[in-house]
Amino acid sequence: MILTGKRILLGVCGGIAAYKAPNVLRLLQKKGAVLRVVLTLGAEAFITPLTFEALCGEKVFTQSDFLAPPPGLIPHTELGRFAEAILVVPATASFLASLAQGDAQSLLVATILASQARVLICPAMNHLMWAHPAVQENVEKIKGFGYEVLSPGEGELACGEAGPGRLPPEEVIVSYLERLVAPKDFEGKKVVITAGPTREFIDLVRFLSNRSSGKMGVALAQAAWCRGAEVTLIHGPLSFTPPPFLKRVPVTSAEEMKEAVLTHFKDADLLLMAAAVADYRPEKTLSCKLKKDQPTLSLCLVRTPDILLAVREVKGPGQLVVGFAAEEGERLSVEAERKLREKGLDLIVANDITREDTGFEADTNEVLILSRSGRQTRIPLASKEEVAWRILDAIKECGGGR
Ligand code: CTP
Repeated sequence: MILTGKRILLGVCGGIAAYKAPNVLRLLQKKGAVLRVVLTLGAEAFITPLTFEALCGEKVFTQSDFLAPPPGLIPHTELGRFAEAILVVPATASFLASLAQGDAQSLLVATILASQARVLICPAMNHLMWAHPAVQENVEKIKGFGYEVLSPGEGELACGEAGPGRLPPEEVIVSYLERLVAPKDFEGKKVVITAGPTREFIDLVRFLSNRSSGKMGVALAQAAWCRGAEVTLIHGPLSFTPPPFLKRVPVTSAEEMKEAVLTHFKDADLLLMAAAVADYRPEKTLSCKLKKDQPTLSLCLVRTPDILLAVREVKGPGQLVVGFAAEEGERLSVEAERKLREKGLDLIVANDITREDTGFEADTNEVLILSRSGRQTRIPLASKEEVAWRILDAIKECGGGR
């Protein structure tokens, strides 16, 4: 994926959150990044170079390499040239001060100064320190250099106090790094994406729904965010919590999803309708819990609105609409083509729901994309993240990106 083969320098400073840096390293490795690590003197007080060396199988650079470099090696320029991106996890107040001043006494700051890499800095510290004007001034200065600073999360801190100062989860940090290095081919585009199932309530406690997890829709939202789009994710109840950086509109029923889609589609460039919308709902929803006082129970179901048909009525000339089709084996391409035509879509993404490794609940997918102009693209089995990326490529070819 986007980090595969990318040369990343991980800088670790001396804060308690340094113990989380190896997890970030592991995740970056999983994504295929090529890694080097620099520890500041302070970091070495919290965690040893051996921990990182054991994980990445590479020499880890410390302050002593800077003061007494091995013959022929100039660590800061070498590492500065190596890095396509530099990630600092965690960044301390004193690191921020040194970088803001261009004070190259530490190997990490000297490397950043001697590099043209993109830089993502993840501060973590006591909430009062973070709020201090001196720290905030340094952060603003650093942002002015063109580096990205990820604000710390709120919550309980190692010092026992609570507030903004926590290191964000490693998945979030790595997503921001992916965004830093990704092509911005959807920049300036407003993209609405639906995900997950809807729920149609029978009574106070029971509902009709389907097996959709929402993974494909959320993967699409994340990929579009990464590539610079302004994303609105409209989703039914999901089986997991989506990343915090996505703008979300949670809904429950098909009717609610329709309202939300029509509202947000108005000024959107692109709609990706990946949600598995329930086709029927109970005619009446009881406001109490239905008692089991009868041997059998019949429910009268009525059709929910078809959201894509409603979108077709309001779609403007510059707007692109992509549908999804959950289909069974042999009928996949015929049915997808029918839905493409009937729903007035620009593209349709079809997947086979009879297979274990594609479609509902799976972490992987394999899809066939059909376009209105007759183009067919087959995306072979891959993670939903990768498939999402390739779907955006197909949309771009159709005129959806920049
Ligand atoms: N869809 C929609 N509104 C509905 C049902 C589906 O907008 N009430 C959208 C889905 O989000 C998807 C596309 O229509 O993008 C196709 O959904 P799918 O479930 O495959 O097909 P259906 O429209 O339900 O048709 P069928 O029952 O014939 O499979």
